[in-house]
Amino acid sequence: MANISIVPLGATIGARVEGVDFLEPPTEALRDTILAAIGEYKVLVLKGEPLPVAVFRAFARKFGPLQEHVLRKYRHDEFPDLSWLTNVAEDGSFDPFGVVRASTWHSDGSYTQDPPELGMLHAFEVPSRGGSTIFADMCNAYDTLDADMQSRMSGLTGLHRHGAGPGGSMYENALDDDQEEKTNDAVHPTVSVHPSTGRKMLYLNETHTRKFRELELKESVALLQKVITHATRPENIYTHHWSVGDLLIWDQRSTIHRGAGDFPPDERRVKIRAIVEEFD
Ligand SMILES: [Fe+2]
Repeated sequence: MANISIVPLGATIGARVEGVDFLEPPTEALRDTILAAIGEYKVLVLKGEPLPVAVFRAFARKFGPLQEHVLRKYRHDEFPDLSWLTNVAEDGSFDPFGVVRASTWHSDGSYTQDPPELGMLHAFEVPSRGGSTIFADMCNAYDTLDADMQSRMSGLTGLHRHGAGPGGSMYENALDDDQEEKTNDAVHPTVSVHPSTGRKMLYLNETHTRKFRELELKESVALLQKVITHATRPENIYTHHWSVGDLLIWDQRSTIHRGAGDFPPDERRVKIRAIVEEFD
């Protein structure tokens, strides 16, 4: 598209997309441009003013069916296939858990057998400092393993369960009767091929990957943490510092992410989220 430009942000991950007109209904050409950029850069940043929720939903819906959040209490009243990411409770009080929620490395929905393809977040209110979101490139993480480690990882299968990974303990008492999580493991190959780019990528995370099926628990956790440390080296990440109106789109398959967990607990942080199940 002639009016769209894409500016890389990180060494291998992250790009800014300029020139999208949200007042126009999203077109096939825009969708194709964004999906191509997602394949290459994995995380896209669109800057602008806060959008009406219906406009944000129409944009997100252009990419595929949207998934309702696992926790009903976060769902948007009018559009239940959108959800709030907020540290403000319904009565206006601050939820202290909001600061640290999702601050360990994860991929959304890896604990389901059919994880979503894209995540989207759009910021309405941001704290005065902190509160960034950090993404790691899991294609580059695979490419930069040595050959022995690539071969070893390719022979392993991840068992995923909500919050059951070595970094997921913060979730133990945070879930309530309102959740619809499954208690069976989701089973995912640790190395897979990205369907649109053909690149190999690691699929594992410290929050929901409970163990590798082929290994004993202790060995499994040690290996998982070693690989996560490798994947999240500074040269392999993009850190997004939020401004009001930012819209982020990321590939759930080829990245892991976490909240920095470092913003003042008495400042509002409110975003709307869309989870794209799969491309139409
Ligand atoms: Fe997340």
